Amino acid sequence: MATELILAVDLDDKDVAKSFLAPLRGELSWVKLGLQMFLKYGPGIVDEFADAGFKVFLDLKLHDIPNTVASAIKSLRGRPCGMLTIHTLGGAEMMRRALDAAEDALPQTRLLGVTVLTSMNDAQLAGIGVPRAPMAQVEVLAKLAAEAGMRGLVCSPLELPSLRGFLGEEIALVTPGIRPKTASLDDQSRVMTPADAAAAGASYIVVGRPILKADDPVAATRAIQRELA
Ligand code: C5P
Repeated sequence: MATELILAVDLDDKDVAKSFLAPLRGELSWVKLGLQMFLKYGPGIVDEFADAGFKVFLDLKLHDIPNTVASAIKSLRGRPCGMLTIHTLGGAEMMRRALDAAEDALPQTRLLGVTVLTSMNDAQLAGIGVPRAPMAQVEVLAKLAAEAGMRGLVCSPLELPSLRGFLGEEIALVTPGIRPKTASLDDQSRVMTPADAAAAGASYIVVGRPILKADDPVAATRAIQRELA
Protein backbone atom coordinates (compact mmCIF):
# COMPACT_ATOMS: atom_id res chain seq x y z
CA MET A 1 0.00 0.00 0.00
CA ALA A 2 1.26 3.48 -0.84
CA THR A 3 2.53 5.56 2.06
CA GLU A 4 0.29 8.57 2.75
CA LEU A 5 1.29 12.01 3.98
CA ILE A 6 -0.31 13.55 7.09
CA LEU A 7 0.27 17.25 7.82
CA ALA A 8 0.62 18.00 11.56
CA VAL A 9 -1.34 21.23 11.96
CA ASP A 10 0.55 22.45 15.02
CA LEU A 11 -0.85 25.97 14.90
CA ASP A 12 -2.66 28.03 17.53
CA ASP A 13 -5.35 29.62 15.48
CA LYS A 14 -7.93 27.68 13.47
CA ASP A 15 -8.52 30.46 10.96
CA VAL A 16 -4.79 30.79 10.29
CA ALA A 17 -4.69 27.00 9.91
CA LYS A 18 -7.61 26.95 7.46
CA SER A 19 -6.09 29.71 5.32
CA PHE A 20 -2.81 27.82 5.33
CA LEU A 21 -4.57 24.61 4.28
CA ALA A 22 -6.76 26.06 1.52
CA PRO A 23 -4.10 25.87 -1.23
CA LEU A 24 -3.09 22.38 -0.03
CA ARG A 25 -6.49 20.83 -0.74
CA GLY A 26 -5.87 18.40 -3.55
CA GLU A 27 -2.19 18.11 -2.56
CA LEU A 28 -2.74 15.97 0.56
CA SER A 29 -5.68 14.23 2.25
CA TRP A 30 -4.83 14.03 5.95
CA VAL A 31 -4.31 16.58 8.72
CA LYS A 32 -3.34 15.84 12.32
CA LEU A 33 -5.01 17.92 15.03
CA GLY A 34 -3.71 17.72 18.58
CA LEU A 35 -4.62 18.87 22.05
CA GLN A 36 -3.44 22.39 21.20
CA MET A 37 -6.48 23.07 19.02
CA PHE A 38 -8.84 20.50 20.53
CA LEU A 39 -8.65 22.10 23.99
CA LYS A 40 -8.89 25.61 22.61
CA TYR A 41 -11.87 25.13 20.31
CA GLY A 42 -13.53 21.92 21.51
CA PRO A 43 -14.52 18.77 19.61
CA GLY A 44 -16.32 20.75 16.87
CA ILE A 45 -12.87 21.52 15.48
CA VAL A 46 -12.83 17.99 14.05
CA ASP A 47 -15.98 18.70 12.02
CA GLU A 48 -14.59 22.04 10.85
CA PHE A 49 -11.47 20.52 9.32
CA ALA A 50 -13.45 17.63 7.87
CA ASP A 51 -15.83 20.17 6.32
CA ALA A 52 -12.78 21.95 4.89
CA GLY A 53 -12.09 18.80 2.89
CA PHE A 54 -9.53 16.87 4.95
CA LYS A 55 -9.43 13.53 6.71
CA VAL A 56 -8.72 14.19 10.38
CA PHE A 57 -6.24 12.35 12.59
CA LEU A 58 -7.08 13.38 16.15
CA ASP A 59 -3.98 13.05 18.33
CA LEU A 60 -5.33 13.07 21.90
CA LYS A 61 -3.15 10.25 23.32
CA LEU A 62 -5.84 9.03 25.72
CA HIS A 63 -4.55 7.22 28.82
CA ASP A 64 -6.72 6.40 31.85
CA ILE A 65 -8.58 3.48 33.39
CA PRO A 66 -10.45 1.40 30.79
CA ASN A 67 -13.92 2.71 31.65
CA THR A 68 -12.84 6.35 31.46
CA VAL A 69 -11.07 5.94 28.10
CA ALA A 70 -14.09 4.08 26.69
CA SER A 71 -16.42 6.84 27.94
CA ALA A 72 -14.18 9.55 26.48
CA ILE A 73 -14.25 7.83 23.09
CA LYS A 74 -18.04 7.61 23.26
CA SER A 75 -18.11 11.36 23.87
CA LEU A 76 -16.65 11.73 20.37
CA ARG A 77 -19.60 9.80 18.87
CA GLY A 78 -20.13 10.61 15.23
CA ARG A 79 -17.18 12.99 14.90
CA PRO A 80 -15.55 12.63 11.49
CA CYS A 81 -12.12 11.52 12.62
CA GLY A 82 -10.25 8.89 10.66
CA MET A 83 -7.63 8.13 13.30
CA LEU A 84 -7.41 8.66 17.07
CA THR A 85 -4.49 7.95 19.41
CA ILE A 86 -4.52 6.15 22.77
CA HIS A 87 -1.56 5.12 24.95
CA THR A 88 -0.74 1.40 24.88
CA LEU A 89 0.68 1.89 28.40
CA GLY A 90 -2.93 1.82 29.61
CA GLY A 91 -2.78 -1.95 29.12
CA ALA A 92 -4.64 -4.64 27.17
CA GLU A 93 -7.98 -4.18 28.90
CA MET A 94 -7.91 -0.43 28.27
CA MET A 95 -7.17 -1.02 24.58
CA ARG A 96 -9.94 -3.63 24.24
CA ARG A 97 -12.48 -1.34 25.90
CA ALA A 98 -11.32 1.54 23.70
CA LEU A 99 -11.75 -0.61 20.58
CA ASP A 100 -15.25 -1.67 21.65
CA ALA A 101 -16.20 1.95 22.31
CA ALA A 102 -14.81 3.05 18.94
CA GLU A 103 -16.65 0.27 17.10
CA ASP A 104 -19.87 1.58 18.60
CA ALA A 105 -19.32 5.35 18.55
CA LEU A 106 -16.69 5.90 15.84
CA PRO A 107 -16.95 2.98 13.41
CA GLN A 108 -14.94 4.84 10.73
CA THR A 109 -12.03 5.57 13.08
CA ARG A 110 -8.78 3.61 13.28
CA LEU A 111 -7.38 3.67 16.83
CA LEU A 112 -3.60 4.10 16.95
CA GLY A 113 -1.52 3.01 19.92
CA VAL A 114 1.30 5.21 21.19
CA THR A 115 4.12 3.14 22.72
CA VAL A 116 7.17 4.92 24.18
CA LEU A 117 7.29 8.66 23.59
CA THR A 118 10.43 9.51 21.63
CA SER A 119 11.23 12.12 24.27
CA MET A 120 12.05 9.19 26.61
CA ASN A 121 15.61 7.80 26.54
CA ASP A 122 17.14 4.89 28.50
CA ALA A 123 17.75 7.02 31.59
CA GLN A 124 14.24 8.44 31.61
CA LEU A 125 12.68 4.99 31.22
CA ALA A 126 14.83 3.74 34.10
CA GLY A 127 13.63 6.73 36.11
CA ILE A 128 10.02 5.57 35.84
CA GLY A 129 11.00 2.00 36.73
CA VAL A 130 11.26 0.52 33.22
CA PRO A 131 14.55 -1.41 32.99
CA ARG A 132 14.46 -2.04 29.22
CA ALA A 133 15.91 0.06 26.44
CA PRO A 134 13.29 2.10 24.54
CA MET A 135 13.30 -0.23 21.50
CA ALA A 136 12.70 -3.34 23.63
CA GLN A 137 9.91 -1.58 25.51
CA VAL A 138 8.34 -0.46 22.21
CA GLU A 139 8.32 -4.09 21.07
CA VAL A 140 6.64 -5.27 24.29
CA LEU A 141 3.91 -2.64 23.94
CA ALA A 142 3.47 -3.19 20.20
CA LYS A 143 2.92 -6.93 20.73
CA LEU A 144 0.44 -6.20 23.50
CA ALA A 145 -1.42 -3.77 21.25
CA ALA A 146 -1.58 -6.22 18.36
CA GLU A 147 -2.88 -8.97 20.68
CA ALA A 148 -5.52 -6.59 22.02
CA GLY A 149 -6.73 -6.05 18.45
CA MET A 150 -5.28 -2.62 17.72
CA ARG A 151 -4.98 -1.89 13.98
CA GLY A 152 -2.44 0.88 14.14
CA LEU A 153 0.58 2.19 16.03
CA VAL A 154 2.53 5.43 16.13
CA CYS A 155 6.26 4.76 16.00
CA SER A 156 9.56 6.48 15.28
CA PRO A 157 11.08 5.85 11.85
CA LEU A 158 13.92 3.90 13.46
CA GLU A 159 11.39 1.45 14.92
CA LEU A 160 9.79 0.70 11.53
CA PRO A 161 12.01 -2.22 10.42
CA SER A 162 11.63 -4.08 13.71
CA LEU A 163 7.88 -3.53 14.02
CA ARG A 164 7.21 -4.37 10.35
CA GLY A 165 9.20 -7.53 10.97
CA PHE A 166 6.71 -9.03 13.41
CA LEU A 167 3.45 -7.14 12.88
CA GLY A 168 1.03 -8.06 10.11
CA GLU A 169 0.51 -5.76 7.13
CA GLU A 170 -2.99 -4.91 8.39
CA ILE A 171 -1.47 -2.87 11.23
CA ALA A 172 -0.91 0.72 10.10
CA LEU A 173 2.41 2.24 11.20
CA VAL A 174 2.23 6.02 11.49
CA THR A 175 5.58 7.78 11.74
CA PRO A 176 6.60 11.31 12.69
CA GLY A 177 10.25 12.38 12.80
CA ILE A 178 10.39 12.77 9.01
CA ARG A 179 12.65 15.27 7.28
CA PRO A 180 13.10 15.66 3.52
CA LYS A 181 16.82 15.79 2.69
CA THR A 182 16.82 19.54 2.20
CA ALA A 183 14.79 20.51 5.32
CA SER A 184 15.99 21.75 8.71
CA LEU A 185 16.00 19.18 11.54
CA ASP A 186 14.25 21.60 14.00
CA ASP A 187 14.26 19.73 17.35
CA GLN A 188 14.02 16.27 15.79
CA SER A 189 17.21 14.25 16.10
CA ARG A 190 16.52 10.72 14.90
CA VAL A 191 14.93 11.32 11.53
CA MET A 192 14.36 9.62 8.18
CA THR A 193 13.50 10.96 4.75
CA PRO A 194 10.01 10.31 3.37
CA ALA A 195 11.36 7.84 0.81
CA ASP A 196 13.35 5.88 3.41
CA ALA A 197 10.38 5.73 5.80
CA ALA A 198 8.16 4.46 2.99
CA ALA A 199 10.75 1.81 2.10
CA ALA A 200 10.99 0.79 5.77
CA GLY A 201 7.26 0.06 5.91
CA ALA A 202 5.54 3.27 7.06
CA SER A 203 1.83 3.37 6.21
CA TYR A 204 1.63 7.09 6.93
CA ILE A 205 4.25 9.76 7.60
CA VAL A 206 3.47 12.78 9.80
CA VAL A 207 5.18 15.99 8.73
CA GLY A 208 4.82 19.37 10.41
CA ARG A 209 7.42 22.11 10.20
CA PRO A 210 8.99 21.14 6.85
CA ILE A 211 5.62 22.15 5.33
CA LEU A 212 4.36 24.66 7.93
CA LYS A 213 7.54 26.73 7.76
CA ALA A 214 8.32 26.29 4.06
CA ASP A 215 8.58 29.41 1.90
CA ASP A 216 6.33 27.60 -0.56
CA PRO A 217 4.16 25.04 1.30
CA VAL A 218 2.57 23.71 -1.89
CA ALA A 219 5.98 23.03 -3.45
CA ALA A 220 7.21 21.43 -0.19
CA THR A 221 4.14 19.18 -0.09
CA ARG A 222 4.54 18.19 -3.72
CA ALA A 223 8.21 17.36 -3.19
CA ILE A 224 7.31 15.02 -0.31
CA GLN A 225 4.52 13.40 -2.35
CA ARG A 226 7.00 12.82 -5.19
CA GLU A 227 9.37 11.11 -2.74
CA LEU A 228 6.54 8.85 -1.58
CA ALA A 229 5.33 7.98 -5.08
O1 C5P B 1 7.20 19.60 12.86
P1 C5P B 1 7.44 18.13 12.90
O2 C5P B 1 7.48 17.50 11.52
O3 C5P B 1 8.61 17.74 13.76
O4 C5P B 1 6.10 17.58 13.59
C1 C5P B 1 5.91 16.26 13.89
C2 C5P B 1 4.61 16.05 14.57
O5 C5P B 1 4.60 14.74 15.09
C3 C5P B 1 4.34 16.97 15.75
O6 C5P B 1 2.91 17.15 15.84
C4 C5P B 1 4.84 16.18 16.94
O7 C5P B 1 4.17 16.49 18.13
C5 C5P B 1 4.50 14.77 16.51
N1 C5P B 1 5.31 13.74 17.13
C6 C5P B 1 6.70 13.67 17.02
N2 C5P B 1 7.38 12.65 17.57
C7 C5P B 1 6.72 11.71 18.23
C8 C5P B 1 5.34 11.75 18.34
C9 C5P B 1 4.66 12.79 17.77
O8 C5P B 1 7.31 14.52 16.41
N3 C5P B 1 7.39 10.71 18.72
